[in-house]
Amino acid sequence: MTAHAFAPVPHELLDPPRQRGRRFRRDGRPLPADLLYGRLLATAVQHALGGGPAPEATVRSADGSSAPLPLDRWLGPVDAADRAVLELADSPVLDLGCGPGRHLAALRHAGKPGLGVDLSPVAVWVARERGAEAVPGDIFTAVPDAGTWSTALLLDGNVGIGGAPAVLLRRTCQLLGPDGTALVELDAPGEPTYRTRVRLEAPGVVSEWFAWARVGVDGIGAPAERAGLRVGETLSAGGRWFARLHVR
Ligand SMILES: C[S@@+](CC[C@H](N)C(=O)[O-])C[C@H]1O[C@@H](n2cnc3c(N)ncnc32)[C@H](O)[C@@H]1O
Repeated sequence: MTAHAFAPVPHELLDPPRQRGRRFRRDGRPLPADLLYGRLLATAVQHALGGGPAPEATVRSADGSSAPLPLDRWLGPVDAADRAVLELADSPVLDLGCGPGRHLAALRHAGKPGLGVDLSPVAVWVARERGAEAVPGDIFTAVPDAGTWSTALLLDGNVGIGGAPAVLLRRTCQLLGPDGTALVELDAPGEPTYRTRVRLEAPGVVSEWFAWARVGVDGIGAPAERAGLRVGETLSAGGRWFARLHVR
């Protein structure tokens, strides 16, 4: 698939009523993470349209380390590793924390319908622009057709959502049907499994800290077991690692 041609993100999504007044705040207080993420995503879309510089954004971890926030990757097309793991997906597919929807768009292209859920209304808007079905919401509270999905995706770090992998995987298990599977992206063998806090940073603005986790291939067994899932095969593609988990 080639890169998608985007339309500009509607202004009202960047300045929702509950956030009004925080948009141009200069007092240095942190913004809610979903609000800052949405604005960075909108800036990246604007940049893709030729309408401004690329956003400079990083993710800072509690240990002080930081890494670039890969907005370009999330807005770009799937790569060979994504395609390899999506081959294993059976529809209907539920993409938990779908972001701007590149996996759902690729699945749709392959004739596998799915639904994305994401906290960020901007991410959901971009996903829909790409032809994906997506709804705004928190995966821990508001997910349509819970208990019926054939495949759940937790890709590109999303196994860290909420900062407690066993809780996230238990929730994933509740959302799957009786024969469902979860496709989960993990860190490489030898990498540690741990809980942390992170925040988004961009020039002149930071988000609030939020709970996150990293899970390595060696560390997925225990939280999966606690969540009622069995670890099936692992897959390595393009330097990335994935596991397929089965409802027990
Ligand atoms: C690391 S990004 C990955 C995006 C997407 N999976 C991709 O690979 O392009 C994490 C996404 O999860 C979303 N997210 C985080 N916590 C969430 C929650 N509790 N419910 C729904 N979405 C959430 C964020 O808004 C963000 O879009």
